[in-house]
Amino acid sequence: MSTAIQFEHVSRRFVLHHHRARSFQELVIRMLQGQGNGRREVFWALSDVSFEVKKGEMVALVGANGAGKSTVLKLISRIIDPTSGRIIVNGRVGALLELGTGFHPDLTGRENIYLNGAILGLRRDEITRRLDDIIAFAEMERFIDVPVKHYSSGMYVRLGFSVAVHVEPEILLVDEVLAVGDAAFQRRCLERIDQMRANGTTIVFVSHDLNAVRRLCQRAIWLEKGCIVADGSPEAVVGEYATQSYAASAALAARRELCRHGTGEVTIEEVRFLDGEGRLRDFFSTGESFTIEMRYRAHKVIERPVFGIAIHRSDGVHVTGPNTQFAQYEIPMVRGEGVVRYTVPFLPLLEGTYYVSVSSHDRDSICMYDYHDRLYPFCVLSGAEERYGLVTLRGVWSWKEE
Ligand SMILES: Nc1ncnc2c1ncn2[C@@H]1O[C@H](COP(=O)(O)OP(=O)(O)OP(=O)(O)O)[C@@H](O)[C@H]1O
Ligand SMILES: [Mg+2]
Repeated sequence: MSTAIQFEHVSRRFVLHHHRARSFQELVIRMLQGQGNGRREVFWALSDVSFEVKKGEMVALVGANGAGKSTVLKLISRIIDPTSGRIIVNGRVGALLELGTGFHPDLTGRENIYLNGAILGLRRDEITRRLDDIIAFAEMERFIDVPVKHYSSGMYVRLGFSVAVHVEPEILLVDEVLAVGDAAFQRRCLERIDQMRANGTTIVFVSHDLNAVRRLCQRAIWLEKGCIVADGSPEAVVGEYATQSYAASAALAARRELCRHGTGEVTIEEVRFLDGEGRLRDFFSTGESFTIEMRYRAHKVIERPVFGIAIHRSDGVHVTGPNTQFAQYEIPMVRGEGVVRYTVPFLPLLEGTYYVSVSSHDRDSICMYDYHDRLYPFCVLSGAEERYGLVTLRGVWSWKEE
């Protein structure tokens, strides 16, 4: 297999200007005071990044905001140059980059299609031949002769994506802006990307939709502060990335205090998710063994306490609410510290993000000792076998001709 894209020790520096003068007057005053126009800071968006993408591969770039993903795409499409290192790109590049990149605001949609086509090396008649398809896919018939500066962000993305896929690129770059489009358009884009992948187009895909990454890509590269921290199978890389980013989520920490109430006689100190081997995880596949572990502290002797959990899907659907009492699992007494585990040998949930609540209360459900409302998220990745909906029923099909 030959190489489509190669990065050799690529670094890219930006210069950030802090406290820029807001007016000419302010600038003159600063100059007279000998301060210049603010402080300059050198910032490395990418440091010593090396990777290779083979022809026909579909690779995802994942990572937190500011990690350098869009910078990689801009370097591949030659919108910017590396500060050091070498980049080799073999093949025509179609790209849907960050909003606004690649479009001239004063030109109409139609004129921008010609401009983009010309930049990519297409002749005018080649563009004219594709024009109707581009406009139709973008569903932009009504707005195609309006200057693009009047477009909504969704319209930008529609046209940008349509141009990128219709110039018959050998390499397709898609930045996460796809998420700006509505659900129906997103689905059509993902279908189109899938089709192009099947036809052998090399694709670099930036997305925060980790399920799409797992479903579509053969490989994932995780960027963190401008460096590659992992490069491998989507299962492994996405799993690692998701686990780390959940743990680091500041929003979650803020929720911790808000969504907690109870008398405090028993407090739930820690909640963790474990896989079949007892390893810590926030990411599971349908059918895997799944354990919720609660570490508690009883501040006095409590007889026959009940521990429970609830699982909600991210859209608010209450999936289940088991507790030790329903299961007739009696805990005679608690004092001091201990652990309660709830194990599901075969996780029936399908793809999605779920939130776990935990509680500890007395056996008459009158006194709530501690309750954490939907504080603990975990993800289920799409299993290969079943899709659509909430759970797998593990039903068995049969067929007989009569
Ligand atoms: N033109 C620029 N001038 C200055 N700094 C820049 C420029 N472009 C990018 N950066 C900086 O480089 C870093 C990497 O940016 P980049 O857009 O590649 O991140 P990203 O991984 O795409 O993030 P996101 O998920 O938010 O899209 C950021 O800290 C950003 O502020
Ligand atoms: Mg970006």
